[in-house]
Amino acid sequence: MKVNFMENVNLNVLVLKHNFRNPVIPAAGPNVGSGKMVQRAAQGGAGGLLTKTISSLAAQVPHPNMARFGKDNLLNTELWSELSPEDWFTHEYDISLDIAHEYQIPLIASVGYTAQDLATLGPRLEQKGIDIIEFSIHYLDEKRVVETAQALRNAVSIPIVAKLSQHSGDLGEIATLLNPYVDGFTCINSFGPTLMIDIETGTSPLGSQNGYGWLSGPSIKPLAIRSVFEVARVTDKPVIGVGGVICGEDVIEFFMAGASLVEVCTAAILKGPDVYGKIAAETAQWLESHGYHDIEEIKGLYLNKYRHGQTVVTAVNQTAYVDEMKCKACSQCAKVCQFDALSAPLKQIASVNVNCCSACGLCVSVCPFGALELRPRLQEN
Ligand SMILES: Cc1cc2nc3c(=O)[nH]c(=O)nc-3n(C[C@H](O)[C@H](O)[C@H](O)COP(=O)(O)O)c2cc1C
Repeated sequence: MKVNFMENVNLNVLVLKHNFRNPVIPAAGPNVGSGKMVQRAAQGGAGGLLTKTISSLAAQVPHPNMARFGKDNLLNTELWSELSPEDWFTHEYDISLDIAHEYQIPLIASVGYTAQDLATLGPRLEQKGIDIIEFSIHYLDEKRVVETAQALRNAVSIPIVAKLSQHSGDLGEIATLLNPYVDGFTCINSFGPTLMIDIETGTSPLGSQNGYGWLSGPSIKPLAIRSVFEVARVTDKPVIGVGGVICGEDVIEFFMAGASLVEVCTAAILKGPDVYGKIAAETAQWLESHGYHDIEEIKGLYLNKYRHGQTVVTAVNQTAYVDEMKCKACSQCAKVCQFDALSAPLKQIASVNVNCCSACGLCVSVCPFGALELRPRLQEN
C-alpha cells in the first residue's frame, strides 16, 4: 500500500532508541502469525513490526478459536503461536527480519510465559537480531510476574517490554513492581475471559473449555486508554497502547493518555493489513487539521493534566446549550435525555428547558453535529 502522509506532519517516533516510521504497529495475533503475515504488515504501512507470541512449545489451540462480536470486535481463544519455536528460528524470523531491514523499521518479537521459557528463548531472540522483546504476562499468576521479568532481564541486553493484561491485577501496581527490570510496557492484552452464546444453537462459537474467549476491539478501548494512563503515571518509560485502535483519532487518544506507540490486532484481522497505513495517514490528517506538526506535540496531553488524580470538571452549575447554527433537528438529544430537558419536535431545532437540565452531559456526547455543549447557568439566565 502506498501511504500518503501529510507533508507538514512528522509521524516518526523514536522509541527505545529505534526509529519507527510511524506510530502504528501490529499487535501479537494471527495478523503477524508468520513471516508472510509480517511482510504484509510492512507492505500495509505499519511503522514497525512485531511477531506473534512464541513459547517453548507450539500452542495446542482449540478450534474454532475466533468469532466476531458486533461489527468490529472479536472473541478469541488463540493462546500463542501454533508454530514451534524451531519454525520461527529457522524460517519465520528470517522473513520478518528481511522485511524489517528492507523497510528500515524495527522488529519486536513477542514471547511468553514462564521464567524458564524467557531465559531460554530471550537470548536466542537477541542473537537472531531482534530489536526489542515484548513478553506477555497473560497466563501468569500475579506472584510470578516479577520473577519472569527478572529472568528475561538477566538473560538479554536488548530492550524488553512487559505486555500487561487487565485480569492480572492493578496495572499501576504491577508496572511499579516491574519498572526496575523492564524498558517499557504494553497495555493491554485482550480482556476476559468472556462468553458469547449463539442462541440458535445454544452453544459457544469457540471450541475452548466452557466456550470462553478473550474480547478485543473497540469495546475494550476505554479500558486500554485507562490502563495506558495508569501505567504512564508511574513510569517515565515508554508505554505502548493497544486495544480497539481502528482509526487515526484512536491513535491521538492513546498518545494523549501517554502512549509512545500503538498496536493494532483486531482491526488488522477484520479489515486487512492496509489498515496500519490507513490509520497512520488518518493520524497525520488529524494532526494537520488541528495545527500540529509532530505527533510528539500531543503526547501526554491528558496525562500531564491529570496524573495526580485531579477531578476533570464539575458541571454542577451548568446547563446544556444548543448552537442553533449547528443543530440539524435530528432529535437524538431529546430521545436520550432522561430529565425531559431537551425537546426537538419533528424537524425542529432542539431547545433546552434549563430548569429540568441536570447537566449530565449525555446529549453533548450523542449529538452527531457538535451542536450541544454545557455552559455555566448564570450566563444563560
Ligand atoms: C485472535 C487474536 C490472537 C491474539 N494472540 C495474541 C498473542 O499471541 N499474544 C499476545 O500478547 N496477544 C495476543 N492477542 C491480543 C492482541 O495482541 C491485543 O493485545 C488485543 O487484541 C487488543 O488489541 P486490538 O483491540 O487491536 O485487537 C491476540 C488477539 C486476538 C484477537
